[in-house]
Amino acid sequence: MSQRLQEYLEAVKGKDAEGILAWARGEFGDRVALATSFGAEDQVLTDLWIRPGVPARIFTLDTGRLYQETYDVFQETRKRYGARIEVFAPDAGELERLVGEQGPNLFYESVEKRKACCTVRKTHPLERALRGLEAWITGLRRDQAITRTATEPVEWDEAHGLYKINPLFDWNEEKVWDYVKSHAVPVNALHAAGFPSIGCQPCTRAVNRGDDIRSGRWWWESPEHKECGLHNRPTQGKV
Ligand code: ADX
Ligand code: SF4
Repeated sequence: MSQRLQEYLEAVKGKDAEGILAWARGEFGDRVALATSFGAEDQVLTDLWIRPGVPARIFTLDTGRLYQETYDVFQETRKRYGARIEVFAPDAGELERLVGEQGPNLFYESVEKRKACCTVRKTHPLERALRGLEAWITGLRRDQAITRTATEPVEWDEAHGLYKINPLFDWNEEKVWDYVKSHAVPVNALHAAGFPSIGCQPCTRAVNRGDDIRSGRWWWESPEHKECGLHNRPTQGKV
């Protein structure tokens, strides 16, 4: 499967985000889907991905612990784009066992417990979301984190066994916000309250201007641990 990676990298060479998305649509048809957490990057991608009359799959992982502001922009995005956003939620039995045995706030007790929560609430639902797909699209950017500096426009996602497409891989934050403003893209209200990167409510807080954009995510952990299993690279520990 991964043998076509070089060919795909050649195919997207020099293309902008819109061009990469058009290529993905042509190459994978209904076997490619955009993963959205409704952050600014994902909203830009949604704006580029949803075209009237053109089928475009889009899904979200609803961990059950998101901010109300995230649900607000989810609702607004449905309305604005007329899009049906597929939702993948944690398995009820797994969640009942996890919270029953470890408590609702287990994530603050150790990296292992935090990862156990991410596994049940994010990684396992992601595995279901990716079933049957040949590629998924994400809003990863190189300058988001030390764990993401090697992000390419197309990658082979070894952990999940399909291609991963990152049309914004070389965008900086300013370019994202220029796009949001010039296209009046709906965004999460928390961005304006000091949240550049937004995940689950108990694991995300505001950052000071100029601070690392992911410093508000799992702020009690060190930077090399700050991936939740959605985007592990071969060199990183798997959840
Ligand atoms: S995370 O792994 O630390 O949570 P981050 O919030 O930076 O990831 O998002 C990176 C990309 O992962 C997003 O642009 C999106 O494509 C995908 N993603 C993250 N969280 C979700 C989610 N809850 N549902 C769907 N996709 C998500
Ligand atoms: Fe659980 Fe926090 Fe991971 Fe959300 S980010 S799944 S609440 S540990």
